[in-house]
Amino acid sequence: MKKELYQFEYYRVSDRTELAAKDAALLDAATRAAQQAYAPYSNFKVGAAAMLVNGEVIRGSNQENASYPVGICAERVLLGNAAVQFPGVAIESLAITYLRADRKSSEPVSPCGMCRQALTEYESRVHQPIRLLLAGELGEVLILNQAQALLPFVFQSQHLF
Ligand code: THU
Repeated sequence: MKKELYQFEYYRVSDRTELAAKDAALLDAATRAAQQAYAPYSNFKVGAAAMLVNGEVIRGSNQENASYPVGICAERVLLGNAAVQFPGVAIESLAITYLRADRKSSEPVSPCGMCRQALTEYESRVHQPIRLLLAGELGEVLILNQAQALLPFVFQSQHLF
């Protein structure tokens, strides 16, 4: 038996104001997307904005449903938009943030497991990692160089064949 270690590097930025202008602008776009979320059941409005390698910005927000499981997360709305509008174009960076009804959000949001799986598939299909910026309205921002780091032992297409 061999003991192994899984680890990855990421960056912790103490405040949005410390971000490079391009990253701050992408996070602002994600915040605007969150304002357009349809989240009457959770009151947890998530917004995502991606900078594609061709310079286009794609956005997504969570879309809930009275039949709760039908709801879809901001990240997967964004990935669907990207795939339809710019097929095959890689995502350089993807910013994700959220708005709470009761107070300003201050912890970085973390994509749910289903979105991690979807983000990883997107990275595989365009052969490029997605740089993630995870933030709340206030406080720290986390920057990761690839989504797959968040999903060790991911289930991938080669497992099917
Ligand atoms: N949600 C997202 O859109 N993205 C995430 O990364 C986490 C959760 C949504 C799903 C649901 O509409 C609401 O946030 C509360 O879970």
